[in-house]
Amino acid sequence: MVGPMPAAALLITGRGRLLTPQPYDGPMPWAILVRGGVIEWIGARSDAPEADEVADVSDALVTPGLVNAHTHPAFLGDRSDEAAARLAGAPYTGGGILRTVAATRAASDDELLAAIESRLRAELAAGTSTVECKSGYGLSTLEELRALRLIGEAAERAGIRVVRTFLGAHAVPSEAGSMEEYAALVAGEMLPAVAAAEAAEFCDVFCDRGFFSQEATERILTAAAGLGLGTRIHADQLTRSGGAELAARLRATSADHLEQLDAAGVAALARSGTVATLLPGPAIVMRGGLPPARALLDAGVTVALASDANAGTFGAWGAMPLVIGLGATMLEMTVQEAVTAATAGGAAALGLTGRKGVIAVGADADVVAWEAEHEGAFALHLGEVHVAQVFVAGER
Ligand code: NIG
Ligand code: FE
Repeated sequence: MVGPMPAAALLITGRGRLLTPQPYDGPMPWAILVRGGVIEWIGARSDAPEADEVADVSDALVTPGLVNAHTHPAFLGDRSDEAAARLAGAPYTGGGILRTVAATRAASDDELLAAIESRLRAELAAGTSTVECKSGYGLSTLEELRALRLIGEAAERAGIRVVRTFLGAHAVPSEAGSMEEYAALVAGEMLPAVAAAEAAEFCDVFCDRGFFSQEATERILTAAAGLGLGTRIHADQLTRSGGAELAARLRATSADHLEQLDAAGVAALARSGTVATLLPGPAIVMRGGLPPARALLDAGVTVALASDANAGTFGAWGAMPLVIGLGATMLEMTVQEAVTAATAGGAAALGLTGRKGVIAVGADADVVAWEAEHEGAFALHLGEVHVAQVFVAGER
């Protein structure tokens, strides 16, 4: 006989609670058959097809691999002094980001790669199997390309799936003449270079007072869409800047933050199909208000929960279990809504519905067994829910 060997089959089985993210309610114990990294069959263990290997997770709570749809891992330097000053009354300005830009530009490739890799390893160890990673601490064509390249390399080393986002429009670098002049550089030079290098899947803009105007945001994201990139916006975080309506109008995949969102903004997102990616970590650290999660869910908006781990407003890596707990305790979400937002919701925010964030036939076999019996642990243990086993595309 010649020809390729059929891929080996793995059977993951257990008798605990299985969130797909809907709770599995079939006969126990359950089983998931994985072949070629993809889920091929789900059902009762007693009906399961033959497999080459069996992984029994016993009575652990099982969820899809978490999808962290908003992070900024490509930086060096420390700004905890700034967080303390802010909580004592100092304002949040673009100057903080520019401190990180200086430290990041000064780092060697090896230093930056090591920093990103350790952050991605922390994510994986805490149950995140897919992570969106933004550039945005380089703010020049070469530095932004370097960050995106090193994000890809770090992900390969860490064994985690990444979605890369170009965030050249994160702050205006000190060498730029004006915001408008720098936005033109982002749209006219940086974006074409990123697209030509196939260095990112998405483009993001920090649309807020003191950062990028609605007009500049629209110019940049229109150029990005024209080059085949997906779009997303840091919207309505510090002020009610109208980023949500702009995201809706541009049919952006996601509008993120939304701490200042009002009823009109909720309605705009509900009409558009744009995902609302909520970030309780920085919302709490910044003390600037919480996003209206309940109103968004009640209006039928798809909600994602993500960490927004970054250099200046939320510094914890591997914090998605905490983020789920904060969604449930601080954002008026049920725990199950919070788990859904951190799995299927995150996938929707990255245009990966059906492939990531679900335990379903045809999805990638990204599966987490937790040291917990019920998802209520994410609220009850707030940040202290640990992973027993993670499978990424069927690899333990
Ligand atoms: O998502 N809002 C903009 N960017 C980050 C903060 C970046 C920084 O302060 O370094 C955020 O909160
Ligand atoms: Fe952010």
